[in-house]
Amino acid sequence: MSTLAIHGGTPVRTTPFTGWPVFGVEEEQALLTALRSGHWGSIDGTFVKQLEIDFAAFQAAKFGVSVVNGTMGLSVALKALGIGPGDEVLVPPYTFIATASAALMVGAIPVFVDVDRETLLMDPALIDAAVTPKTKAIIPVHHAGSPADMDGIMAAAARHGLKVIEDAAQAHGAAWRGRPVGAIGDIGTFSFQSSKAINAGEGGMMVTNDPELDELLWSYRNVGRRRGGEWYEHVRLGWNLRITEFQAAVILEQLKRFPSQQAYRTEQAAYLSARLAEIPGCIPVKVPEGVTAHSWYSYHWRWLGHADGGLEKHALADALRAEGIPVFHGYVPLNRNAAVVEEIRLLGGREPAACPNAERAEAEEILMFSMPILMGTRGDLDQVVEAVAKVAAARA
Ligand SMILES: Cc1ncc(COP(=O)(O)O)c(C=O)c1O
Repeated sequence: MSTLAIHGGTPVRTTPFTGWPVFGVEEEQALLTALRSGHWGSIDGTFVKQLEIDFAAFQAAKFGVSVVNGTMGLSVALKALGIGPGDEVLVPPYTFIATASAALMVGAIPVFVDVDRETLLMDPALIDAAVTPKTKAIIPVHHAGSPADMDGIMAAAARHGLKVIEDAAQAHGAAWRGRPVGAIGDIGTFSFQSSKAINAGEGGMMVTNDPELDELLWSYRNVGRRRGGEWYEHVRLGWNLRITEFQAAVILEQLKRFPSQQAYRTEQAAYLSARLAEIPGCIPVKVPEGVTAHSWYSYHWRWLGHADGGLEKHALADALRAEGIPVFHGYVPLNRNAAVVEEIRLLGGREPAACPNAERAEAEEILMFSMPILMGTRGDLDQVVEAVAKVAAARA
């Protein structure tokens, strides 16, 4: 953190923001119970089984299958849906690399469908033009914890006979028109990686309402075994992607903490949006009207002040950091990621098309605060707003 503000005066903030994760004696006790049980793996233990039941119920899904992380959850979901080499899957470009790499890792080609400029969520109006006879699935991302437009996505999937995998890595507890995300489509995947709102260092969950898919998800993540089969009976090729009892013990406690944390972040985000919107050039990212619960995993806002003589986005971010406010530039669009483009080429896929909204988001507009900022106090947010107002008023 710089000791000097770039645009005059002393930095607005000189102390760190709230840390993450949040835990207490409950997690400590759960870990000890798992340790002393002597059942550390998911096969004999009780925590993983309980977590799968509780998390599925939390997302209003019939079935939950735990998995080592959200990335492999997506790959397993694709395998379970029979999607592989030569198939195309529609993904947004403005997301974490896993949404595309999970497809590439099973030989499928990600085809990028641009996001809406105001919401940063996949724009269903662009789906028809991206579909070819090779298209098999859509992977909408509930970015930052905001559900994508599931009305538009499910309608497009129905029009073209496509499967839907919801990438809900960031969207625990989120809901579209009152329906928790995850099992609105065929399969949904979640992450419990250390930055996430429900966290065990690493971990993931796949949810579905379809008993046959549940069986396949279970089998692919369990070395191709069959439920009720012999230990050395492998009916298909799968991976060992099981989580441990220690992870599940922690996640079960984190799950109990989550609803009040989500409610708190929702209030904080509303306050931050109202205050940021008062600053010329600052526009909070729009939340679609169908979103009835937002996870607020992260907070994104658009900076349009450069056009009116304000700082360019990256200079604004530098100035904000010098004010003691940790701010991020957001994703590099995956249609412009060299590793992704190269792998698509190697697999013989189509050259990714331009995605102007995602590219503009990165180059010019989008700035992001991570979740701990929303978990802090009102005073923390006031300092964030004060610093943004200061740098927004600066002239290059
Ligand atoms: C949108 C999205 N998809 C997938 C993942 C992958 O999850 P994991 O890190 O658990 O592999 C993440 C994690 O950061 C994510 O944000």
